[in-house]
Amino acid sequence: MKKIGIIGSGLVAQALGSGFLKYGYQVMVGTSNKSKLAEWQKGAGANASVGSFADTAKFGEIIVLAVKGSAAREALGMMGHSNLRNKTVIDATNPIADAPPSNGVLKFFTSLDFSLMEELQQAVPEANFVKAFNSVGNAFMVNPSFGSKPTMFICGNNEKAKKEVSQIMDQFGWEAADFGMAESARAIEPLCMLWCIPGLTRNEWTHAFKLLKL
Ligand SMILES: NC(=O)c1ccc[n+]([C@@H]2O[C@H](COP(=O)([O-])OP(=O)(O)OC[C@H]3O[C@@H](n4cnc5c(N)ncnc54)[C@H](OP(=O)(O)O)[C@@H]3O)[C@@H](O)[C@H]2O)c1
Repeated sequence: MKKIGIIGSGLVAQALGSGFLKYGYQVMVGTSNKSKLAEWQKGAGANASVGSFADTAKFGEIIVLAVKGSAAREALGMMGHSNLRNKTVIDATNPIADAPPSNGVLKFFTSLDFSLMEELQQAVPEANFVKAFNSVGNAFMVNPSFGSKPTMFICGNNEKAKKEVSQIMDQFGWEAADFGMAESARAIEPLCMLWCIPGLTRNEWTHAFKLLKL
């Protein structure tokens, strides 16, 4: 089973870390502050470890990027670009700005002409970024019980990497919908805005997207 390196110590890193452990992967979670993961690690078992961003990027055969969007570029530097060579990087980040939402609509620091994932892919061309997990809350990332399979919109430039991510989505109870190349992150990242509107306006956070096709 492949080794997974998860960069981040927040709720997304912990939820996905537990999900990968559930399916027998070896998981290292990366942080600059190990105390943030002490509770998570207590219940995580022998296949779980905690390291620095660089240790984690080196360890993982597949990488998950789960840091604050505004820190993502800096995090790649801390991970070491050479540790990401030819690896699939699942990019769960969103480019959320510090400014407050407007009537429940989050503000982004990117434009609709250039997404965060394109910026990251351009910064580390030797890695294969796949946008995924950015448009649902962490509580539903692994085997959610909506009654039918929700859709995870994914995109990226490398077909093999997208296949690898689609298999993980399937394991985690999702149907992956491949929506194209890295540029498609311009449309997929704002799904986070859409997903958050019911939460920010009505405190409703228990939904996911589903693509209907003929
Ligand atoms: N929360 C959700 O349900 C959800 C759902 C979908 C997508 N997302 C996206 O997933 C990402 C992670 O979200 P989250 O809520 O789990 O955590 P978060 O609070 O957005 O981010 C926490 C992580 O960001 C890192 N970080 C913060 N500033 C940094 C800096 N200057 N340099 C390097 N790293 C820095 C922290 O590193 P240390 O560990 O070293 O402190 C920590 O690991 C975000 O981009 C978010 O938009 C979140």
